[in-house]
Amino acid sequence: MKLTDWHRRYQFQAGWTRNLRSFLLNKLGVQPGNRILEVGSGTGALMSDFQALHAWPCAVDIELSRSLFAKKNLPDLSSICADGRHLPVCGGVFDFVVCHYLLLWLDDPLSILKEMVRVTHRGGAVIAFAEPDYASRVDYPHIFSYIGNYQNRSLEFQGVDIMMGRKLGLLFRQSGLEDVKLGLLGGEWRNPEEAEFDAEWDVIAWDLGGFVPVDEILSLREKAKESWLSGEATVFIPTFYAYGIVS
Ligand SMILES: C[S@@+](CC[C@H](N)C(=O)[O-])C[C@H]1O[C@@H](n2cnc3c(N)ncnc32)[C@H](O)[C@@H]1O
Repeated sequence: MKLTDWHRRYQFQAGWTRNLRSFLLNKLGVQPGNRILEVGSGTGALMSDFQALHAWPCAVDIELSRSLFAKKNLPDLSSICADGRHLPVCGGVFDFVVCHYLLLWLDDPLSILKEMVRVTHRGGAVIAFAEPDYASRVDYPHIFSYIGNYQNRSLEFQGVDIMMGRKLGLLFRQSGLEDVKLGLLGGEWRNPEEAEFDAEWDVIAWDLGGFVPVDEILSLREKAKESWLSGEATVFIPTFYAYGIVS
């Protein structure tokens, strides 16, 4: 997929968690001028929401093309290309250090979390806004469970921990954070929209490639789209959040 396609996908994902992010940041006392670092920021899909809070956002991603894409879209943004395990910043400089759909992709999520704690000042918060638990997904009707099984296999093949959601509480406690809270993102579904199906399908087709022949992917797409647009489909991937305070 092209970077613009990933950005579109990340913007959809950002839409799913927008209310939760705003709720958590307000609950934790975000103020204008606060410094918010997102580790694994991708194309920068969350950054404009942080700017709308009059916070000072900083984006870190390990892929240079993504850091440059974010900077091009938001020229005022501090965008750094770096490995989140070794952030090129002094300790204790951020009020909030956050991630969003990151930890599931990592071999050693605890080392990134510990680094996130290091760069947060005392009394500040580390937040994982969204970590899915694909292994406990709900897919209905059968065509979606068929696709979901293949997608999980593909994600595991790509190195994803499909049980990351359920592990979040332990990881946050192991990282030395205090007053750790864990929660589950709720769900509310509007009438199905074609654009949302298409954005989802781009990623599903990407995941299925290599596991399912192209002809079958195309035929699955038609059947899945019909079911989706008729309103019968339910696809729910339990997605956890966690936060803790730096002492
Ligand atoms: C699924 S994307 C999520 C992007 C963004 N957080 C969002 O939700 O729109 C995960 C991002 O983490 C980045 N990433 C993976 N390992 C990383 C690491 N060790 N340090 C920094 N970024 C990393 C990837 O390059 C990718 O852009």
